[in-house]
Amino acid sequence: MRTIIAGNWKMHKDRTEAENLLDAIAASGPFDGVEVLVAPPFPFLDLAVRHVGGKGVRVAAQNCHEAGQGAFTGEVGVPMLRSLGVGACIVGHSERRQYFGETDVMVGRKVAALLKDELQPIYCCGEQRAEREGGTHFDVVATQLHTALSGLGPKEIARLVVAYEPVWAIGTGLNATPEQAQEMHAFIRAELRKLAGDAADAIPILYGGSCKPDNAAGLFAGADVNGGLIGGASLVADQFIALVRIARDAKRTA
Ligand code: PGA
Repeated sequence: MRTIIAGNWKMHKDRTEAENLLDAIAASGPFDGVEVLVAPPFPFLDLAVRHVGGKGVRVAAQNCHEAGQGAFTGEVGVPMLRSLGVGACIVGHSERRQYFGETDVMVGRKVAALLKDELQPIYCCGEQRAEREGGTHFDVVATQLHTALSGLGPKEIARLVVAYEPVWAIGTGLNATPEQAQEMHAFIRAELRKLAGDAADAIPILYGGSCKPDNAAGLFAGADVNGGLIGGASLVADQFIALVRIARDAKRTA
């Protein structure tokens, strides 16, 4: 099984800060079997490919439009990303859902657009705090997965990376426990199996939500936790690099 650490920079960094962070990450390789991705904001994608390309780090976008091109002011199409050498794209992040009105149906269209142009979708799902407290978290995540992905065939779903990001853990300092994470990851894998059969066993499922060097070893130890989608800690080179090493060690001893 692949192990992935992906850094979601969200709307942070200026050009010089971005270059410094990219160079520090690239210089910390080789990564011994851990796939490392960085997802800087759109203006820095080209620069990111130049700084880390060929150094074992892949570049991902944080969002895309479902159409290849067209009159969609302010949007970015998948062929544009591909032409830069971007290899993956986060879709369905809870901040896109919460602040920009993205629905599972919209996210599903973006997943299809990415697969068509051979970019790897990093599909995010996860429940709100009230949903976990109300005990509906499994239903919520199942609905997200099935609504967004049901139009795809097993071979397409096999090309995804899935990120479980409980909304109550994102940027709050309140991470899921290793048990909560593993329980949900196993559930997600079982749901993916309904959609993609045995291919689901090879789909990396990343944990995201206040994942830091001091809690990552426990989280990454879960059998169905195949790495992390990292927000805040991906902005600090030492922390991000530490997370890559922790993931490597967790999977080596597993
Ligand atoms: P966080 O964000 O690590 O800052 O909680 C994770 C994410 O939103 O991907």
